Amino acid sequence: MSEYSSVTQWLGQDRQGYTLPQGLYVSRAAFEFDTRVMLKRVWLYACTVAHVKKPGDFYLFEMANTSVIIVRGRDGEVRAFHNSCAHRGAKLCSQAQGSAPRIMCPYHQWTYSLDGKLLAARNMPEGFEKADHGLQPARLENIGGLIFICLSDDPPTIEHARADIAERVAIYNLEHCKVAVQDDIVEAANWKLVMENNRECYHCDVNHPELLKSLGTSGFGKGLPGDDAEAAQGARYEEYLAAQQAAWREAGLYTHLVEFPDDGWHRVVRLPLANGSRSQTIDGEPASRVPICVHPGTGDSSLSVWTQPNSWHHFCQDHAVTFSLTPLDADRTLLRTSWLVHEDAVEGVDYDVDNLAAVWRATNRQDSMLAELNHAGIATDGYRPGPYALEERLVEEFKEFYVETAKSALGEGAA
Ligand code: FES
Ligand SMILES: [Fe+2]
Repeated sequence: MSEYSSVTQWLGQDRQGYTLPQGLYVSRAAFEFDTRVMLKRVWLYACTVAHVKKPGDFYLFEMANTSVIIVRGRDGEVRAFHNSCAHRGAKLCSQAQGSAPRIMCPYHQWTYSLDGKLLAARNMPEGFEKADHGLQPARLENIGGLIFICLSDDPPTIEHARADIAERVAIYNLEHCKVAVQDDIVEAANWKLVMENNRECYHCDVNHPELLKSLGTSGFGKGLPGDDAEAAQGARYEEYLAAQQAAWREAGLYTHLVEFPDDGWHRVVRLPLANGSRSQTIDGEPASRVPICVHPGTGDSSLSVWTQPNSWHHFCQDHAVTFSLTPLDADRTLLRTSWLVHEDAVEGVDYDVDNLAAVWRATNRQDSMLAELNHAGIATDGYRPGPYALEERLVEEFKEFYVETAKSALGEGAA
C-alpha cells in the first residue's frame, strides 16, 4: 500500500506509553487510510435494535465511501445491505432514518424486499433471473440489541464479545425500548482524539460537574485493577466496590470485570452510582417512570459497555444511552448520542426529554470542547507525543488497538 507510506512511517514512530505522532491525528493521508482501510477491518457499532424497531424501519450507516442500509425485515430480523442498486448502482436510500414497506431504487424503480430480494425489474432481457440480482449483504451482528457491522469479507471473530456483552445487556430489554431522543454533534477533532477522550476520566474532576453527581470517576479509567489504589481513589473505595460486587454476584448480576480481553475489542463493567443516585440524571432519580430493567439489585448501579474503535453505552434501570462515533474528515467527527426508554413510556407523562438527556448533553458539550482543544494543539508545530498518566491506561488500550489493526492492514496490503 505505497499510497499510505507516510502512515507506515508514522506508525513506525509510535512509542509505547506515548500519544501518537502528529500525522496520524491531523493528516488527510491518515484519515483516508483510517476510513478506507483500517476501520473496514473491524466491527463498528452502528445503532440499536430500537433504531429499527418495526419491520420496514431503516437506518443508514455512512463513512467515507461506505453506505450501508440497516433494515428490519418482516420476520423481525435486522439485516444490513450495501446502499447501491444491483441494476446500475444508484444510491437506493438517501434518508438517514425512516420506514418503508420495501426498498425501491429512485432511478428505474427496481424494487427489493426488506430481506434484500429483487422483487421487480421492468423489461429485462430473456434469461434475466431476479434471484441473481438481490442486494449485496453486509455483515451484521446483533449483540444483546446493539447492532455492529463489519465491512470486511473476513471479519474478526466476535464470539467472545457476544458471550460477554449479550447476556449482561439482555436484562435491559432493548427490543422493548424506543429511541426517546437522538443528538448529533460534529466535533472539530480527529475521531481518534474523540475516542481517547472517552477512554479516560483524568479530565473528569475539573470538567464534568453534572456527570459527577451520579457517577464516580472510578471505573472510568481510575481505580482499575493494577492501579495504585491509594493514588487513584483510596483503599476505602476498593473495599466498597468489592462489597457491591459481592451483592451483585448474589443477585446474578456480576461475574467478573471484562477488560478488553483477547483481541482488545470490548469492556463490560457494572459500576455503583454515586451519591445515592438511582440513574445517570442530574438529581439522581430515574428520568423515566417505566423501567427498562426490572432485575432486582440494579437500582443503585449502571452497566457500561465500551467497544473499539467507535462506541460506548450506559444502561440504567430506567433508560439506556448509547454513543456512536463516525469520522467525517481528518478534523471532523460525528458523535451521535441516543437515549432509549421503555416503549410504553409516554413523553411528557412518564419522562421529559430535557431531563433524560441533561447529564450527557452537558458532558458531551464539555468533552467536545476538550477534544477540539486537543486537536488544535496537536495540529501546531510545537506538538510532540506526550506520556499517558496511570489513569489513561484505557487510552493506551485504544491506541494499541488502532496501531495493531493499522499495522496488520498495511502488512497484508504489502504482501
Ligand atoms: S440503478 Fe437502480 S433501478 Fe436502475
Ligand atoms: Fe469526558
